[in-house]
Amino acid sequence: ATHETAGETQDGIRRRDFLDIAAVSAAGIGGLAVVYPLVSQMAPSKDVLAASTTEVDVSAVEPGQAIKAVFRKQPLFIRRLTAQEIAEANARPLSSLRDPETLADRTKEGREDMLVTMGVCTHLGCVPLGAAEGEVKGEFGGYFCPCHGSHYDTAGRIIKGPAPTNLEVPEYEFTSDTVIQVG
Ligand code: FES
Repeated sequence: ATHETAGETQDGIRRRDFLDIAAVSAAGIGGLAVVYPLVSQMAPSKDVLAASTTEVDVSAVEPGQAIKAVFRKQPLFIRRLTAQEIAEANARPLSSLRDPETLADRTKEGREDMLVTMGVCTHLGCVPLGAAEGEVKGEFGGYFCPCHGSHYDTAGRIIKGPAPTNLEVPEYEFTSDTVIQVG
């Protein structure tokens, strides 16, 4: 009887060990399943981070839509402006701007509809909202920085709030009608 009890106890311990390990594994896998999509969105691969240039295919971007990419470890916004947004940007008097630049200054010739800017507020570096579909649009139809309330217009120019300058336009070129190479 003593032997049997010891055997049961050992079995019991073994079973508990197994269950504990299984529970830990399940928790680990569960944790990974939750965390992984966030990590994969927020942390681009080392290749992307190391690259000094970024190629973005903009063929699927319709007027009024924007996509986010990553350039030199920072968010990059590519927005295709609607005809109305282009008209609004061109109608804004340069004298009313803190950092006067025309939409033409900030875009490529013949491609005023494609605005490429860093997604980094020029105040203290937060990521403005409004660049991607479904995000809050700024009061001026462009971008709104949630940190201290800077508003940028549809051309990414600072209109209101503490940011001193327009959203930075990085070096870029169209390598075809639908592909932009940044950097
Ligand atoms: Fe954007 Fe301060 S960081 S307003």
